[in-house]
Amino acid sequence: MITILGIESSCDDTSAAIIRDGVICSNVIAGQAVHERYGGVVPELASRAHQQNIIPVVHDALKQAGITKEEITAVAFTRGPGLLGSLLVGTSFAKGFSSALNIPLVEVNHLQAHVLAHFIKEDEQDQNQPVFPFLCLLVSGGNSQIILVKSYDDMDIIGKTIDDAAGEAFDKCAKVMGLGYPGGPVVDRLAKLGNPHRFTFSKPRIEGYDYSFSGLKTSFLYFLRDELKKDPDFIEKNKEDLCSSLQKTIIDILMDKLYQASVDLHIKEVAVAGGVSANSGLRNAFEEYSNQYGWKIHIPKFAYTTDNAAMVAITGYYKYLSGEFAAPDVAPYARVSI
Ligand code: KG4
Repeated sequence: MITILGIESSCDDTSAAIIRDGVICSNVIAGQAVHERYGGVVPELASRAHQQNIIPVVHDALKQAGITKEEITAVAFTRGPGLLGSLLVGTSFAKGFSSALNIPLVEVNHLQAHVLAHFIKEDEQDQNQPVFPFLCLLVSGGNSQIILVKSYDDMDIIGKTIDDAAGEAFDKCAKVMGLGYPGGPVVDRLAKLGNPHRFTFSKPRIEGYDYSFSGLKTSFLYFLRDELKKDPDFIEKNKEDLCSSLQKTIIDILMDKLYQASVDLHIKEVAVAGGVSANSGLRNAFEEYSNQYGWKIHIPKFAYTTDNAAMVAITGYYKYLSGEFAAPDVAPYARVSI
């Protein structure tokens, strides 16, 4: 039996999870409300909160899994990408833990972990995992990528954003409307009440599978500025339609390229991952493409969409099986590709 403790601390969520032979036993996440009033994550505050949270979170993960620390086979941690001060907390904890218990240490790439979240089994009978090769749309606050996943450790980014990520487009446009941070979930909620065809915003024209969201953000900003001159209450009166039209535009941009990649590569096994995969409109779009084009789709459980240690533990599990261990002097990295 292989039992992996996963540790995630790349941004503003401190998380610990236990995975046993690929099956989830616990996944504990402590968020950080401290950032809300600043309209974004404050790195210094994030690392301090990780320091406070890490021990209780690991303790809870063990307790919920009903195991003792002596039963852990290896500890996997997020090495990057992420905020360096935040990553240092998880990395240092994992190193200390593996050294104290004399068990292997496994480093995990955060982006790879988002993709491999689809392999977390809910129970031993769970057979819903994707079949290689598949396409994964990774959409979060920092990334918008189309990844060709050939095996657990062989992935190619075939398309990526050349400026803002999809989550940033949601968050920045929400901020302009005064909807708070993070804006993605608020836009999603209001979008359900509005008309997605009421307003039209600009879509980028870029070759290949790359994305761009900065033009949309600018077009949204200028549109609101002009309308607010005519009616200072424009946003308040139209926020449902604004959110609905904005959300539709972002989803159309994401799906158009993903569809093209699927056609070109003859791959109909398609997954979505990252924080923005919580978006109900995007989930519906996946269902529609599945019905219309025969895609076999993989949509993660809500608990595995945002940052979580279960995805780190499952990635650690597969790296453990292939004998890929980290050196004791391993240090986190803020920037790294998949
Ligand atoms: O993967 P994630 O938790 O971490 C970062 O990359 O930071 O993604 C967070 C992003 C934020 O931009 C947030 O607004 C977005 O995911 N998000 C959503 C929804 N839930 C989270 N965007 C649209 N609709 C949602 N329901």
